[in-house]
Amino acid sequence: MKASRFIALQDARSVGQQAALLIARQIKDKPDASIVFPTGKTPLPLYAVLRQMSGLGWSKTRLFQLDEYVKPTGLQEPLPYETFATFLNRELWHHIGGNKYYIQDYLACPDAYEKQLSENGGPDLVILGIGGNGHIAFNEPGSSPDSITRVVSLAPKTLNANFGDSNKAGYPTEAITMGLATILASKQIILLATGVNKQDIVAQAFAPDTEPSVHCPASWLKRHPCLTVMTDFEFPLSK
Ligand code: GLP
Repeated sequence: MKASRFIALQDARSVGQQAALLIARQIKDKPDASIVFPTGKTPLPLYAVLRQMSGLGWSKTRLFQLDEYVKPTGLQEPLPYETFATFLNRELWHHIGGNKYYIQDYLACPDAYEKQLSENGGPDLVILGIGGNGHIAFNEPGSSPDSITRVVSLAPKTLNANFGDSNKAGYPTEAITMGLATILASKQIILLATGVNKQDIVAQAFAPDTEPSVHCPASWLKRHPCLTVMTDFEFPLSK
């Protein structure tokens, strides 16, 4: 049983480099692994390294999306925002092989996404960022640790963080996301957190003297037996 680890590195680029090594190891150990990818600013250095890593055997890997906005009804293309699928394709998926599973294709049948994830002994590896309010994927504060892939409403803090003025007409107010139970079912989890704006929420989520709480979804990760937290800042547990 692998232990959980807290690794503080010198900068976001180093976090990307070290995380890429863990992913390369996963693919070497299990070429047809099911790996879940996040979006946002945090994974950008990681994806830049993975794009450059020639010789990684992605062809059999099963690639999954962690979450995606739900397009508002009646909104026509071109959308005023970038979908997470577009982001992932641009930043990584269109640069590598593998079998790609887009969560938006399962809006009408989220349970089928859960089934795809659990096939072939997966999910093997979930890569996460963390939101300023402790959300992981789009599991906002209040999310049950038993939650699975589903459509959720987005918190005002998240809408503001992702879109600026959250009252903008035509912007999503919902998303489809893997649930906390879906994520916690993974054999291995890597949480990436970089930038001083993530220090407090990471320290809160992983405070050694507190139990996981529905008020901080990331805190449930403390219970996972194979978690690696990689940051570009020190925090109480990093060694
Ligand atoms: C979004 C995503 C999360 C991501 C978070 C942090 O809400 N749903 O998966 O981890 O924002 O994004 P960033 O890395 O840009 O801070």
